Amino acid sequence: MFKRFLSYFIPINIYKRNSGISTTLEVTWNNGQLVLDSKRTNYSYGSLQRILRKGLQYIGFERIRAFENILVLGVAGGSVIKTLVNEIQFKGKITGVELDPEVIEIANTYFGLADTPGATIVNDDAFEFVLKTKEKYDLIIIDIFQDTVMPNFLFEEFFINRINFLLNVNGFILFNTMTLSKKDKERNEAYRSCFNKNYSVRMYPKVEDHNELFTIKKLG
Ligand SMILES: C[S@@+](CC[C@H](N)C(=O)[O-])C[C@H]1O[C@@H](n2cnc3c(N)ncnc32)[C@H](O)[C@@H]1O
Repeated sequence: MFKRFLSYFIPINIYKRNSGISTTLEVTWNNGQLVLDSKRTNYSYGSLQRILRKGLQYIGFERIRAFENILVLGVAGGSVIKTLVNEIQFKGKITGVELDPEVIEIANTYFGLADTPGATIVNDDAFEFVLKTKEKYDLIIIDIFQDTVMPNFLFEEFFINRINFLLNVNGFILFNTMTLSKKDKERNEAYRSCFNKNYSVRMYPKVEDHNELFTIKKLG
């Protein structure tokens, strides 16, 4: 409680470990809130949670409540899952896919992710998972970073086509990207042009600092 209070004045780190995937993983009290950070960026809760919450607002909380099946690629501390369950009151099924077993351990120990009703967390590579799954989804949230780096497969046609195939008609993709350079901006423009007239693509630049969000709706 004291650490939480103190964190309004100065961030208080309570756990830190090295990670092969994210360089470091740190749990810190910041402004009265527990957050998960990698070496160079916020991973969960804090600004990351605000960014994805905005994306979900663009799609519409009412619409999301009517969905049945949600896939979250990149779980970290699970802040978007908490937003879905606690704030939006989503009652359907959530599958979260996370590559790093250490991140899952942290999510359960410090952020109570294992106690979230309706959510199942799978320790797998998102790319492998989407090839294997037999389910279809109403909302696919893509939030995959290795520290500040976004793996190339996210922008490749093969992965894009597979995600589109897994999406139900009238369903949405919410894709969080980071644009730190001109090259990243061009990469995002190219990504946008991968979708044909069967999809409605919206881009929300500068959601916070360097984040650019996409919402993509599969039209009927
Ligand atoms: C920004 S965090 C996700 C935050 C999360 N969506 C939330 O709401 O709190 C990015 C996560 O992607 C994970 N990740 C990186 N590469 C991955 C991959 N190929 N498959 C699945 N997860 C991956 C990282 O370990 C990290 O936990």
